[in-house]
Amino acid sequence: MTVSTTSAPQGPDEVDLHDPVLHGEGEPHSVWRHLRRHAPVHRHVTADGRPFWSVTRHQDAMRVLRDHRAFTSARGNLLTTLGSDDVASGRMVTVTDPPRHAELREPQIRALTEGVHATAGPRMRQAVRSLIAPALDGAPVDLARTAARLPLMALGPVMGLPAQDWPRLGRLASAAVAPDDPAYAADAPDGTRTTLAAVHHEIFAYFRTTLRARFRAPADDLLTRLLPGPGEDARARAELAVHHCYSLLLGAATTLPHTVSATVLAMSEDARVAEAMRQGPEALTTGIEEALRWSSPASHVMRHTTRPVELAGARLPAGEAVVVWLGSANRDEAVFADPYRFDPGRTPNRHLAFGYGPHYCLGAALARASLTAVFAELLDVVGGVEVCGRVEHLNSHFIAGISRLPVRLASRRRMPR
Ligand code: HEM
Repeated sequence: MTVSTTSAPQGPDEVDLHDPVLHGEGEPHSVWRHLRRHAPVHRHVTADGRPFWSVTRHQDAMRVLRDHRAFTSARGNLLTTLGSDDVASGRMVTVTDPPRHAELREPQIRALTEGVHATAGPRMRQAVRSLIAPALDGAPVDLARTAARLPLMALGPVMGLPAQDWPRLGRLASAAVAPDDPAYAADAPDGTRTTLAAVHHEIFAYFRTTLRARFRAPADDLLTRLLPGPGEDARARAELAVHHCYSLLLGAATTLPHTVSATVLAMSEDARVAEAMRQGPEALTTGIEEALRWSSPASHVMRHTTRPVELAGARLPAGEAVVVWLGSANRDEAVFADPYRFDPGRTPNRHLAFGYGPHYCLGAALARASLTAVFAELLDVVGGVEVCGRVEHLNSHFIAGISRLPVRLASRRRMPR
């Protein structure tokens, strides 16, 4: 990823951080850098008049994310819901505060058992092997498209979802978080663009039907583990299970591929990245943490103030939206030396790619296990990466991602050692 490290050309008031195009075609990193220096907690107003505060420094991001009493998630945790309270509060883990939050989080943690993490690795290596093998003859391949298939290959078997449904679920999940990007916008059967509400509806309807089937015929899978037990309010618990499935699908499908693509792009720009990550298990682990910091696929999370708060010298009234830019916190020069360099050996690496505080990503262990397997396999079989076409970034203020990454891969086996 090439970023300008010069200050933003405009003042913070002229920059529309809410505009998805800025994140796809522009340079959020130079804007964030300017804000970290000159206005670390800054009030923006969207083009249609909705205000929100931007938090760009690492230490302020941690302060907001750990204090759920002053900064609630209950009104929505993404800019897509700015100005209209999230209707899933109390049912969806991401938009519910403690103590109810723990009641929603526990079943998902239990469902993601240790067995899930243990089997993720071999399955992901096999998935990468099958996806990459046809491209090892040097023919161009869109790595972004290939990476987009990985999350469902990791999560699909765990959840017990049939393989023929994975592509559709992947597309729906992407459309749900990046509805403004032409590559991700979901199309209705009549060719018109479906609304965000229709995408949500389709995902919920899918899981309702699938869970109902699992209720009739239980299996040894995550879906069955989420079903109501004896003595529980079956209807309420089943509806919660649908929300859990939605959170897990979106959490996995919309983030993982972008860490893979951004890291492969970094490897194409500097061969030392791959070389360093090949130096053994510890080097791979620190390399993956750097990949997470570098890619920060969840670009922001949102909260609302519940009372007046002072943050980095700014006075925030009660009831205001506060957007924590994780991508910015992860480039904060006060915490990371030389933050615009992909340093595979970086330690410590206190990145916030998985968030922080009570909502810390509950798929982090699965994500780490999956990424470790993906890169162990890639580094084993791929000797070199060359970008061979135009790279396109997603138009999304939530997902920092690559939608097109045409590359040629050189097989390592054929490379002179
Ligand atoms: C590179 C991969 C991933 C990244 C960067 C990522 C990032 C994040 C972030 C930043 C949050 C915090 C949201 C907030 O504070 O409002 C979060 C929460 C969450 N993630 Fe992930 N995630 C990843 C992978 C996964 C996977 C694989 C799953 C599912 C297995 C998952 C499921 C979830 C869920 C359910 C939550 C909500 C937790 C809560 O609210 O308590 N994520 N993730």
